Amino acid sequence: MTALTLSTAAAPGLRADAIVIGVAKGAKNPVVAPGAEAVDKAYGGSLAGVLETLGASGAEGEVTKLPAPSGFKAPLVLAVGLGAEPEKDAGYAAESLRKAAGAAARALTGTKKAAFALPVTDAADVGAIGEGVLLGAYSFDVYKENGKDPKERNGKAPLAEAALLGARPRDKEHKAAVERAVAVAEELNRARDLINTPPNDLNPEAFAAIASAAAKEHGIKVQVLDVKALEKGGYGGILGVGAGSASGPRLVKLSYTSSKAKKHLAFVGKGITYDSGGISLKPAGHNETMKCDMSGAAAVFAAVVAAARLGLEVNVTGWLALAENMPSGSATRPGDVLRMYSGKTVEVLNTDAEGRLVLADALWAASQEKPDAIVDVATLTGAMMLALGSRTFGIMANDDAFRSAVHEAAEEVGEPAWPMPLPEHLRKGMDSPTADIANMGERMGGGLVAGLFLREFVGEGITWAHLDIAGPAFNEGGPFGYTPKGGTGTAVRTLVRLAELTAAGDLG
Ligand code: BES
Ligand code: MN
Ligand code: ZN
Repeated sequence: MTALTLSTAAAPGLRADAIVIGVAKGAKNPVVAPGAEAVDKAYGGSLAGVLETLGASGAEGEVTKLPAPSGFKAPLVLAVGLGAEPEKDAGYAAESLRKAAGAAARALTGTKKAAFALPVTDAADVGAIGEGVLLGAYSFDVYKENGKDPKERNGKAPLAEAALLGARPRDKEHKAAVERAVAVAEELNRARDLINTPPNDLNPEAFAAIASAAAKEHGIKVQVLDVKALEKGGYGGILGVGAGSASGPRLVKLSYTSSKAKKHLAFVGKGITYDSGGISLKPAGHNETMKCDMSGAAAVFAAVVAAARLGLEVNVTGWLALAENMPSGSATRPGDVLRMYSGKTVEVLNTDAEGRLVLADALWAASQEKPDAIVDVATLTGAMMLALGSRTFGIMANDDAFRSAVHEAAEEVGEPAWPMPLPEHLRKGMDSPTADIANMGERMGGGLVAGLFLREFVGEGITWAHLDIAGPAFNEGGPFGYTPKGGTGTAVRTLVRLAELTAAGDLG
């Protein structure tokens, strides 16, 4: 990953390949953002005009390259758009800085070292810029030409080094902000790697092994239930979904504990390493990206490890419900009835509604420890994508205040999310003549139906929220801001923020 440093050096004498500055959309013309004063001065104060001549407007994500002024050690200035200039006295929003830093880092692929002279007013800005750089510079190319170094195959390596200017290297808060950005971004990028890894290499067993190794490295207790253990425990949901695959399912429990913890959070992730639909097979056109169906488990894994690395004073348990949903002679059929870990029976009407089955067992397992709250994360329904599009995840909960708190946390970290209801009238659509409940209900409001199904497997009295990340988990379009093509790592930062808020006693 890109190396981050804090630097007090002045822009002119800086040994770097590029200097990144911010440009915002003013009322009429582009305006140079604070942080770039020295650069502007070297252009004789004409930088805004030069940028305008080059066609820059300051729009979000816009990148304009210009030769550095004479006397500068760095040869290139890169101006990145910050969007609308903030009102007088208001600073740039952290998310604007994060996106701009990410867009600049992407544009600097193939560059060795860049200095970032973006507007910084406080430690939060330092953290946002750091995060933006580290997340924007992400690339996944281990499968290209036998994993050769990109340079050897004429490709471009990600930005190797970023120096943040305007931050104070000896300021405790600034240093902590960078450390937090590095821990969160490293784990988030690892989640992206897992999501992008093809399903022939990432089956439940492989995912469990990676999670176990990382957990041990960071002092997290890990417990892996294999097929035998799942059978012994009666995990009918996870076993039913994994029944058709040559790679058996797993339930991974990651326990991070802090001696100073007063609260306990449980995170539960859907980890379908490939979703073919099973016997209710998905048609071509709907299965090409289904390696992303373990994005929820990847996010939970990343968040627990990040919480441990940050030493948060809260206990966090992560549950990864891992299975591959495949059709075969041993697969669950539409019409089968599964006896779930909770004891409830489920009539499987559609084997493609598998996420709720593995989550049901993991939610019930998580509930047995009576945590203060449970948050599950899942690429659960196409319906949620239809409702909210490909960049926003839906939040459902059995508690209105908690749903709002999760939404606020998501907003704070720059993850677009929106509250969704759990309308009681949709429950009866899942009534089954044979079992306690069916795994499918009305087609309309399919995302909410799935949420109502999950609610049945949350222990009595436990606060719970469900994040349906089917839209934002995997970016099929071009990269934007700090979001790459492919696995995005969505929800990781919301979960980490929830753990921080809980540790601080500001949640629940
Ligand atoms: N993994 C899919 C949901 C999904 C779709 C995620 C597109 C990301 C992109 C899930 O398992 C699924 O197949 N859901 C079905 C449920 C239906 C059969 C009730 C769906 O949404 O169509
Ligand atoms: Mn499915
Ligand atoms: Zn699925």
